[in-house]
Amino acid sequence: MWGGRFSEQVDALMAQFNNSFSFDRRMWREDIRGSIAWARQLARVGIISAEERDTLVDGLNMVYAEFAEGRFEVRETDEDIHTAVERRLGELVGTVAGKLHTGRSRNDQVATDVRLWTLGAIRRIDDGLRALQKALLAQAETAGTALMPGYTHLQRAQPVLLAHWLLAHFWPLQRDRERLADCAKRTATLPLGSGAIAGTPLMVDRTALAAELGMTTISPNSIDAVSDRDFIAEFLFCAALIGTHLSRLAEDMIIYSSAEFGFVTLADAYSTGSSLMPQKKNPDSFELLRGKAGRLTGDLIAVLTVLKGLPSAYDKDLQEDKEPLFDAADTLELALPVAAGAVATARFHPDRMRAALDDAMLATDLADYLVARGVPFREAHYITGRLVREAEQRGVALSALPLEVFLAAHPVCEPDVLQVFDFDRSVATRRVPGATAPEAVDEQIAQARRCVEER
Ligand code: ARG
Repeated sequence: MWGGRFSEQVDALMAQFNNSFSFDRRMWREDIRGSIAWARQLARVGIISAEERDTLVDGLNMVYAEFAEGRFEVRETDEDIHTAVERRLGELVGTVAGKLHTGRSRNDQVATDVRLWTLGAIRRIDDGLRALQKALLAQAETAGTALMPGYTHLQRAQPVLLAHWLLAHFWPLQRDRERLADCAKRTATLPLGSGAIAGTPLMVDRTALAAELGMTTISPNSIDAVSDRDFIAEFLFCAALIGTHLSRLAEDMIIYSSAEFGFVTLADAYSTGSSLMPQKKNPDSFELLRGKAGRLTGDLIAVLTVLKGLPSAYDKDLQEDKEPLFDAADTLELALPVAAGAVATARFHPDRMRAALDDAMLATDLADYLVARGVPFREAHYITGRLVREAEQRGVALSALPLEVFLAAHPVCEPDVLQVFDFDRSVATRRVPGATAPEAVDEQIAQARRCVEER
């Protein structure tokens, strides 16, 4: 490929070190698509004849078929996907293959391939996110008005609708989808035509090239274009945050499925047993989902670290961008459907959740009762706190304190104060958009439905 300038063979270990075919071969579709589009431009600007163009395109389609059918035979000298495709094209169509690389460099070629590949990955991950959203939404619809304890600091806080908690895991995924869509906009920029650094001397129509490859803009600067990997860093940030969101969902599911909580039972299909303890049923699906956040974050850090301190334009360091990219995409393409399946098949136990509600979770409602009767919130908070302590000292539930104790707590208290000790009532009072009252959650469900339906 660059043999003309060299008099010595490359060292065997160096060749192995330099080789990227083992991992960049998976960009064969994108590489061949890009080359077909490039061949058309070469004919347009008169570098090759229409006949030569057709020979190249036919040959590239043959190479495509070899990859598609698993027939492509790699040679030791195939340094990367770009050289492998060109080498095979030469074997199939002869010397005209040597014209394909005119006015192009592997620098703009690889940047184009990776962008095309990333756009495909974004589409697949969006599908995976949507499937998980649908599973959460279906469970939320099934949950109806079932209540559960809402936790802050993992301590019982206030009653909420089970559907409300489920949807708390829906919206982060919606933001992930929006972030990926935004990342796709910048990814769909065409570097081809930038050559190695200075731009191609051929008057190719870059806008037409972009359109043919499904991209929306062309890069404005060839030096930037061959080194810009922002889209990979952005994609990996999106992936790392998705991993973080999955880990939070997973953590909730893991603790809620423990015997101590008993709020949910995971399907056998998403659990595994223990080789030693016959009684064990472990939430491995969710534990792995939680664990994958680590490698996704690692992929992001790996690429940011490679990029840091590089001079402008192309450097071989950039070859290190692909494995973390592929790893993150592969990880999510498997993790998201597993998460969707594990959520869809989980059985929630509203009876157990309801049994875990305790009166102290209505202390805020008691304070709200006082506030509604003109007591400043800080004072109401203090009075209620004293009542909670009193109940604790007597070893009874807050609602089981004698009525006189409440009446003595503050002059505004009347016998109807005991009505605050009703979990359904508590939830029903939180009616603003985004709150946990059944009507507000119905509204939220309708909004969520629109998110998974629109395309
Ligand atoms: N395999 C290389 C990569 O992934 C392709 C670009 C090589 N360019 C070069 N000037 N050596 O980055």
